[in-house]
Amino acid sequence: MGVGPGDPELITVAAQRAIEAATVVAYPVAQPEAEGMAARIAEPWIAPGQRRLPLLFPMVVEAEPRRLAWHAAADALASEVAAGQRVVLLCEGDSSLYASCSYALLALAQRHPTCPVRVIPGISAAAAAAAAASSQGMVWPLALQQEALLIRPTPETPEQLEQLLDHAATTATVLALLKLGRRWPWVRACLEARGVLEQALFAQRVGWPDQLLAPAAAVAAGEQPYFSLLLVRQSWPEVLP
Ligand SMILES: C[S@@+](CC[C@H](N)C(=O)[O-])C[C@H]1O[C@@H](n2cnc3c(N)ncnc32)[C@H](O)[C@@H]1O
Repeated sequence: MGVGPGDPELITVAAQRAIEAATVVAYPVAQPEAEGMAARIAEPWIAPGQRRLPLLFPMVVEAEPRRLAWHAAADALASEVAAGQRVVLLCEGDSSLYASCSYALLALAQRHPTCPVRVIPGISAAAAAAAAASSQGMVWPLALQQEALLIRPTPETPEQLEQLLDHAATTATVLALLKLGRRWPWVRACLEARGVLEQALFAQRVGWPDQLLAPAAAVAAGEQPYFSLLLVRQSWPEVLP
């Protein structure tokens, strides 16, 4: 279930009730002993008596360690359910959008197809970023009228980004580029060269006390944290208030 991108208040009533009703609270961690972002976000809603179950989802490039981790996570969840526990698996943002939770679900369906599952959606970082910007006077609709919205990871190279921006410009597509952090220096340069930096919104750690929402032009060219994203709008519909 999604717990939203940072602010514990951005959790759905359904998710809060599911946590309350759980005997086991599972959450992804990138390293053993790590706290886990989703668990930090949901902290106010987790009671001291609830058992915590960190599940290791290593952030590595190799396929095999990741597959093994997904299988192990699914096996651990299924065995808790089989033992009669009520289990929730927390997920940062929305539970179906670039989410560790999705791999656990796929592995569960494959390895434990009779295990009962309910998926509760959450507020995605892109939606929260648009709302937070609009709340700060930078009115930022994600999509209007016939526009498309493309939420995807930031491309790996300037050439790929150029192609993406060309495509987005000709198809009235607003871009939400995730996993921006270390790519920001060259992404910034690319947007500046094309004259679209002014129309982009930089969002970092949305929902956290130190959140930053800023016109992209105001953000220096250095590397940024992992929890950063960019919204890029290259045009507006003709008919507007
Ligand atoms: C693995 S994806 C998770 C997406 C998440 N499930 C969602 O629904 O938004 C991680 C990326 O989402 C973006 N992200 C997640 N939380 C964020 C936040 N609080 N502020 C800014 N960006 C965030 C960042 O671009 C980060 O690299």
